[in-house]
Amino acid sequence: MAEAEETAANRGSIDRLIRRISDAHGIDLALYRQPYLERRLAARMRVLGLTSYRRYGDLLEGDPAEYARLIDTLTINVTEFFRDSTVWDSIRRTVVPDLVTRKRDSRNRSIRVWSAGCATGEEPYSVAMLLLDILGDDAAHFATSVLATDIDPNALAKAKAGVFDKAKYKGVTADYRLRFTRAHGNAHFEVADEVRDVIRFRKMSLFDDIPVRVIDLVLCRNVFIYFDRQQQARVLENFNRAMTPGGYLVLGRSEKLSDAASTWLEPVDGNGRIYRKRERT
Ligand SMILES: C[S@@+](CC[C@H](N)C(=O)[O-])C[C@H]1O[C@@H](n2cnc3c(N)ncnc32)[C@H](O)[C@@H]1O
Repeated sequence: MAEAEETAANRGSIDRLIRRISDAHGIDLALYRQPYLERRLAARMRVLGLTSYRRYGDLLEGDPAEYARLIDTLTINVTEFFRDSTVWDSIRRTVVPDLVTRKRDSRNRSIRVWSAGCATGEEPYSVAMLLLDILGDDAAHFATSVLATDIDPNALAKAKAGVFDKAKYKGVTADYRLRFTRAHGNAHFEVADEVRDVIRFRKMSLFDDIPVRVIDLVLCRNVFIYFDRQQQARVLENFNRAMTPGGYLVLGRSEKLSDAASTWLEPVDGNGRIYRKRERT
């Protein structure tokens, strides 16, 4: 086969595999860069002694453990401060101001956030910094809390320590670095107490009974990729119970909402995967 034909055939097979995975898990792997995706798939297929994407698709369908391994090779606890800056822009410009206004009007001065699948803590620390920044002097008049949960105890231990390699400064603005972090030795920084005080870390699976029922903002980003459609639906039902009417849900960029969830959630920003719980469902 000529090289161009081979490349096109390869592209076609990967596209079919991506569609099968999307149908089963609602995950759009096409958002990953293709060379990256190809390398990761090749690594899994090599281990399994497979040479065809179709065969690998068959195997994935019958073996949830292999799906979990593929997801692990694609994501492995990857997280960053203010990951996906466009989503954080929307949270800053739309979500938090709306919550603050509504809370002021209702005189209920509590803002509760849940970072569900918080990994090593960059996401809950980011949202805590953002809230403290936006509330400014008003922060003292609001009871602000961030519940940060994960099933991985090692990731949680790192999150609780709140000490990060300086390379992790990447998404943090100079202003936030100054206000919300301080140096920790030469190569690390640590998160300021003011930010830590807002957060409670807890080991918890998303399938567990959710202890809190008054969440205004759920960040569950890049976690649905681990689950199949049924599991996602169960987790979404948990969120429905946990969230306040008018509360927000943010998913990862490659993650799609199930049809059932659109009865109680409406999109605020489709690209950023931000949804709002309808006032009445
Ligand atoms: C890729 S990280 C996402 C971190 C962060 N939310 C972000 O977007 O940067 C996915 C995290 O989901 C966690 N996770 C996977 N299954 C889970 C479950 N059933 N319950 C809670 N956390 C889970 C993993 O341990 C991992 O830390």
